Amino acid sequence: MSEKIMMERIKKANDFMSANKANVAKSAYRQRWHLAAPTGWINDPNGLCYFNGKYHFFYQLNPYYGFWDYIHWGHGVSPDMVHWTDLGAAMAPSEVYDDHYRGGCFSGSSLVHDGKLYVMYTGCTNFGNGFEQTQCVAFGDAKDDARVLHKYEGNPVLTAPEGADKAMFRDPKVWEHDGSFYMVCGVSRGGRAQALLYKSADFLNWQSVSVLAESRGELGFMWECPDFFEIDGKYVLMLSPMGCGERTSVYLLGDFDYRTGRFDYHTMGAIDWGHDYYAPQSFLAPDGRRIIAGWANSWDWMPFWKDWGPAYRDGWCGAFACPREVTLADDGALRFLPIRELESLRTDGHSEAAFTVKDGEEKRIQAGDGISYEIKAVLDIEKTTAGKVEFLLRRGKGDDGKERQAVCYIDLVKSTIGINRDNADGWSRGESKSTLLMAGKKTLEVRFFVDVSSIEMFCDGGANNHSMNVFAAGEQNGAAIKAIGGEAVIKSLECWAL
Ligand code: FRU
Repeated sequence: MSEKIMMERIKKANDFMSANKANVAKSAYRQRWHLAAPTGWINDPNGLCYFNGKYHFFYQLNPYYGFWDYIHWGHGVSPDMVHWTDLGAAMAPSEVYDDHYRGGCFSGSSLVHDGKLYVMYTGCTNFGNGFEQTQCVAFGDAKDDARVLHKYEGNPVLTAPEGADKAMFRDPKVWEHDGSFYMVCGVSRGGRAQALLYKSADFLNWQSVSVLAESRGELGFMWECPDFFEIDGKYVLMLSPMGCGERTSVYLLGDFDYRTGRFDYHTMGAIDWGHDYYAPQSFLAPDGRRIIAGWANSWDWMPFWKDWGPAYRDGWCGAFACPREVTLADDGALRFLPIRELESLRTDGHSEAAFTVKDGEEKRIQAGDGISYEIKAVLDIEKTTAGKVEFLLRRGKGDDGKERQAVCYIDLVKSTIGINRDNADGWSRGESKSTLLMAGKKTLEVRFFVDVSSIEMFCDGGANNHSMNVFAAGEQNGAAIKAIGGEAVIKSLECWAL
């Protein structure tokens, strides 16, 4: 155990980020209001919490370049989850159990206990016989805002259980209930994914409680970043499954009994259908809202993956998607909508009363500067005769002079929605798609949160969401609504600059 080595590595990372962040900030793709690392690579949200009067979002970080490697924990703090200050690296690889070039301090979570931040993360290393993942503890202090997460000298506190793949036992999510600590952790056993439930009295010694849920093949071979929480008396297991086709962030909803550790789920849903939403983690805001943050990118093993986008050329890659509030709706399914704090970014708002877009026509819409904005539209689906309504975003001349646009569509004939980015930027490709539940609906609300290199589409009250990255050129700042095969009747339209 060497805190000295870790502190040296944290210093090295922070010195590097300080020296290079001004340059990275000049990148044409840099997000304006989404959380990103000052330099380098970012992936999963980690240790999300409200601690010491602020929101703390830690994240998987390689400070040195825009690709995944040698994973540290980065650390952003915010009064509102909208305006972020980076506090530098909070943890760096330094121990036999987490010091490896292709490993490091993998994903984990935190809870606030006795005025301290209790952190559980996965150490990933390789002694020459394959990767080994173990669960490890670290602590943060209020006096320095958990700026450094000090690793526990008794690490690791948990190794892979019997029969499990020791290279696939990771991403502990911890919480407290009734005076005990609990943890859910992902594992692959016999080629199938499981979420394991553990319990502890002291956060250091953990006993196995149950297999909370498992895949029989239909939900992949490994569940990354499992998360388990209660909402209005029901329980939710969130998963990022590997080997589950285009499903990348899934929730299971059902009933749970702390006495037996049994979780019986009866409902399954997608948290986001887009190609750039992965590894969401949840936490409770002080006012009781369940908030999630996800990583806005994808892995190379996903079927639609092409690459991580062009930002690596500018020394960085990746950002979080906007934080979303989780609610349980009357139909028994979850909703995920942008947190209300994002309204503080709104400027230059304008709204339009009902209007109709004729077949084959396009109505231009003015949303901020056409690069960073919010759109809230309500479509009258009873009066709309169009088979397809498209929101054409980030339109204009691409870097290569060609006309580009991202096509966000609502197909009322096929009952699907999605985003096609085959001609969005000369870089990205692929189309996300999901089924729209139309029965009994008279109107459909569609919301867009757009930043320099991302589009987040929220449909049907947050039940049907798509997050896609688009690396559009600065001149791609037009937006329009198009009707195809009939008229589109828009009941209302509101737009803001963000
Ligand atoms: C998910 C994940 C986790 C792992 C981390 C490594 O995106 O693969 O399972 O802990 O990223 O950076």
